[in-house]
Formats: sequence, structure tokens, C-alpha cells
Amino acid sequence: MKKAVSVLLIAAMTALLFVGTGCGKQKQLIMATNAEFPPYEYHEGDKIVGIDAEIAQAIADEVGAELVIEDMAFDSVLASVQTGKADMGIAGLTITEDRLQNVDFSTPYATAAQVIIVKEGSSITTPDDLAGKNIGVQLGTTGDIYADDIEDANIERYNKGFEAVQALLQDKVDAVIIDNEPAKVFVDQNEGLIIVDEAFTYEEYAIAVKKGNTELLNKINDAIKKLQDSGKLQEIVDKYIKAE
Ligand code: ARG
Repeated sequence: MKKAVSVLLIAAMTALLFVGTGCGKQKQLIMATNAEFPPYEYHEGDKIVGIDAEIAQAIADEVGAELVIEDMAFDSVLASVQTGKADMGIAGLTITEDRLQNVDFSTPYATAAQVIIVKEGSSITTPDDLAGKNIGVQLGTTGDIYADDIEDANIERYNKGFEAVQALLQDKVDAVIIDNEPAKVFVDQNEGLIIVDEAFTYEEYAIAVKKGNTELLNKINDAIKKLQDSGKLQEIVDKYIKAE
């Protein structure tokens, strides 16, 4: 008897849930990101804004879906795409051979570089000077991967890029390896920091989808092409990155 009642209850609740989420309402497009990466994604009040957020919105419009942004640790972004918890990962994600084993990437929508942030007057003036140093990175990023190859370096991994920068300000690390645009933002926001002239590597950002999800991937690629051809992508970039 008890069992029958609870089965009924579950059925009723499920039905309610369907009504609540709105059967026939717009379907959702879930974006996984780590909103600690200005100007690509960051918090502004209770909103997540930035270049990637706007590109995602344009894709959602194209697909005719409601965009839902899920903020998580950077090293969970690709996993959530792989397991299907999110439909797409947009997080200033660099295309790498390793990542291509686990997800599919769209056509690139931006180029980037890994750069080195140091304190003004630092003895580190080229990537070669990083040997044997304490280096701060954001966990799981390409900066983390490159730092790993530096001879005798000690790598400190932080959950947020900004935390690595704070560690640098407090002399807990000698340098931070991070993507060039966030680097510029962090250096602008903090007195006494500079970016080493010589970049570390060049990379391309793209959108990750679950392996084999060509249906969504094609739509994303179409949307990126439209954004590029119409000049809208450049407009978005110009809104967030001011020419020097
Ligand atoms: N481009 C680097 C990578 O793909 C860093 C990306 C960090 N993105 C972020 N939203 N925190 O590993």
C-alpha cells in the first residue's frame, strides 16, 4: 500500500515537474564555463558577461534555444561536456591534441598566447628565465601544462587565475603564466605588474562539444561563420578589448 502511494506520488511529481519546466517551451542550451577569465567570461554583479557569453548567446539565438550558463571550476568544464551535463564548453578553451581525444572543437574564434606576468623589476625577462622558479598558474589550463615542462620549476596551481596573480603580488610565486587578454586585465587592475615581452606559445580558442555531436557542432560552426562574416564577432571583441 505504502509503495503504491509513493509510486503515485512520484508519478504526480514528475508530471508536475514537466509542467513546471514547461513542455513545449524553448529547449535549453547549456554552456559550461569558468567565469574567472576576463574579458572572455567574468562576473558583473550577478551576471556572467564577456566575449564568450555573447558568442554563446548568438549561438543560442541561432539554434533557437535558451542559453543557460553554468559556472564551474575550469578543470570541470571539459568533463561536463564529455559526460553530456553541458552541451558546450566555452571558456577561452585552447585547442590541444590531448583535448581533441576527449571532445570535438568548433572552428577557432580567437587567437591567444600564453604570457608571463612578473613584478616590475623582476629578473625574469624571457621564458628561459623561468627555469628553477616558482610559477603560478590556473589549475588545468594550458599555462599549467607548459609550466610543467619548465626545468626545475615549482608549479603552484590555483583555482582562479586571479589567485595566481595575488600570489605573485604577495611574492609567493615569481611569475604567473596565463592567457594574454586576462593577463592584460590583471596587470591593469594591479599596481607594479608587467607582462614579459616575449610570449610563450600561440594558441587558438574554440568551443568544445561532446565527441560525435556533429549536429550541434555544425550549428555552432555556422553561427561562428555568420558572426565573423557579419562583423558582429569583431564588434563583440571591440566591446570588451579596447585597442591599445
Ligand atoms: N586557454 C587556456 C586553456 O584552455 C586557459 C583557459 C581558462 N579559461 C577560463 N575560463 N578560466 O587552458
